[in-house]
Amino acid sequence: MNVTIHVNGTRHTIDVPPEMPLLWVLRDILDLKGTKFGCGIAQCGACTVHVNGNPTRSCITRASVVDGAEIRTIEGLSPDGTHALQRAWMELDVPQCGYCQAGQLMSAAALLEDNPAPTDEDIDRAMNGNLCRCTTYLRIRRAIHHAAAIRGRQSPVDGAGGPDAIEGREHIGGGADDTGGRGHIYGGAGDTGGRERIDSPAAR
Ligand code: FES
Ligand code: FES
Repeated sequence: MNVTIHVNGTRHTIDVPPEMPLLWVLRDILDLKGTKFGCGIAQCGACTVHVNGNPTRSCITRASVVDGAEIRTIEGLSPDGTHALQRAWMELDVPQCGYCQAGQLMSAAALLEDNPAPTDEDIDRAMNGNLCRCTTYLRIRRAIHHAAAIRGRQSPVDGAGGPDAIEGREHIGGGADDTGGRGHIYGGAGDTGGRERIDSPAAR
């Protein structure tokens, strides 16, 4: 079937099977490889893009249902990598392997568009469907606060880019506190808790 989508401001009409996942459309047809395939079953968030402004798992979203939609991918977050979140991510050295990070950024961007000054709890709720095997959760939370500060909506994050940022990295990678952070974000049982709650409205 012919599907017309607007991706990062550019209109595309493509002839695809209606059941083709949006993720395949983006990566294999439009050659936008920034959005990642993780699980393929809406369990990890690596494939998150915005569909009409809503964070959406592109791995389970069929092409037929996005006909006419406005889609934004990580490539469209900013023209030059200077979105407040991208700046915060770099200043706080958020990624480790990086595989999950496009999805993390797209979920975080949707959050900040709805809520320019989120609390820790707001962030944990919005991000609870985005898994990170490298456990960068505490840096992600900190970077979202920092991005809000860059946009002038919150107080600056202490030490962003400075000594405290280094201390934060050590803290995050420091074993017991790392597990504690993940437990907090995912509700105490670590990743399992998060996966169980991926179907919550906040994660859709
Ligand atoms: S690849 Fe889509 S949620 Fe994991
Ligand atoms: S940075 Fe490696 S999976 Fe998140």
